Amino acid sequence: MSLTVEKTPLPLADRLAEIAPSQIRELHNLYMTLKSERPDMSFVALHFGEPDLGTPPFIVDAGAKALQDGAVFYEPNAGRLDLRDELIRFYAEFHAHPITRDHVVLACGTMQAIFLCMAGLLNPGDGMINITPAWPNFTGAAKLVGADVHELALSFDAEAQRFWLDFDKLEETVRNYPEIRLVNANSPSNPTGWVMTVDEKKHLLEFCRRHKLFLLADEIYDRITYTEAGRTSFLKLSEPDDHLIVLNGFSKTYCMTGWRLGYLIAAPEVALKMAQMQEFVTSHAPSMAQVAAITALRDGEPFIAESLARYTRLRDLAMDKLNAIAGLTAARPDGAFYTFFKLPEGTASVSFCEELLRETGVVVAPGAAFGAGGEGWARICYATQDALLADAIERLGAFVQARL
Ligand SMILES: Cc1ncc(COP(=O)(O)O)c(C=O)c1O
Repeated sequence: MSLTVEKTPLPLADRLAEIAPSQIRELHNLYMTLKSERPDMSFVALHFGEPDLGTPPFIVDAGAKALQDGAVFYEPNAGRLDLRDELIRFYAEFHAHPITRDHVVLACGTMQAIFLCMAGLLNPGDGMINITPAWPNFTGAAKLVGADVHELALSFDAEAQRFWLDFDKLEETVRNYPEIRLVNANSPSNPTGWVMTVDEKKHLLEFCRRHKLFLLADEIYDRITYTEAGRTSFLKLSEPDDHLIVLNGFSKTYCMTGWRLGYLIAAPEVALKMAQMQEFVTSHAPSMAQVAAITALRDGEPFIAESLARYTRLRDLAMDKLNAIAGLTAARPDGAFYTFFKLPEGTASVSFCEELLRETGVVVAPGAAFGAGGEGWARICYATQDALLADAIERLGAFVQARL
């Protein structure tokens, strides 16, 4: 008797057709394969967006103590009251902006807060404007809930080495697609390091107000910035009836990527719905991570100052070295820990990054992964050791020169 059961494959949900494999992940897989095949080759991996240093000991200790003290039980959907209270203090002191417990929803990483927003704000067929080049997960999350993504590529001023937002193009996009309900903006930006000026922020708020659009503002790099504008939250510039949702988290500022803790700040009626949705997604963010985050907010300022000094040095090192390579044009980052640089005219970024990896062992992220305006560029994450960064850019330079 055969034990084989005839199986009729059941179709998966249609929405899964929208999930495209990440080009950064694919490059990473190639890197892992080459690493195992070529043990003698030296690799420098600068493609992921993660600080190289682990969580500082004062936060690790607070997390360990939280576990010992019993922070192992269920918590409210929107997050612990003591952490929300700490965020109230923090926003009042750092951003001079009053919020209440009812404005905040903690989530399992900023990524999960982003997903709650996409699921809670967009119906299938609704449109989102994504200001690109952008972290690919915004598009991925919007598509997963059936929304259409309209990418609006930033313009680049090569002389000033800076990106800028063309509001005429923004107006035109909204005119052309009346189903648009949301604008997504990330400043300081991953992957470009672009920081919106305060005027651009005010203008974008006014634009969303006039067109009755939600504005999703991802401010996760607001403590890793070299300008006052980068630190200025949209919240501070907003009016009470703006449909603004600010996203932030602990991963980058406090080197806590694996703890999975982020949050959103929205009008209480929006935050309440997001918290209710949270019940059916992860119920709440990890208890012990929430307790540790209180310490991060309370005692983290010296660590942030130290990190910023380090990132400033690394940013300058990266810019000096990239600017010295004929054929490359780097955008000057005003925040986050990335440099985005333009490859020689006509270069396809995915094949460039693959060849660079195979020939030199240096791993950088292809610009094509970041949407419109990204093709022809590549991203380096400079949250690494000075010597590694210098070595990687020297190898990159030799690789580019050999191809010119
Ligand atoms: C702009 C941006 N938002 C959110 C995230 C994800 O943050 P979290 O680890 O809190 O989910 C990243 C990570 O790269 C990011 O670059």
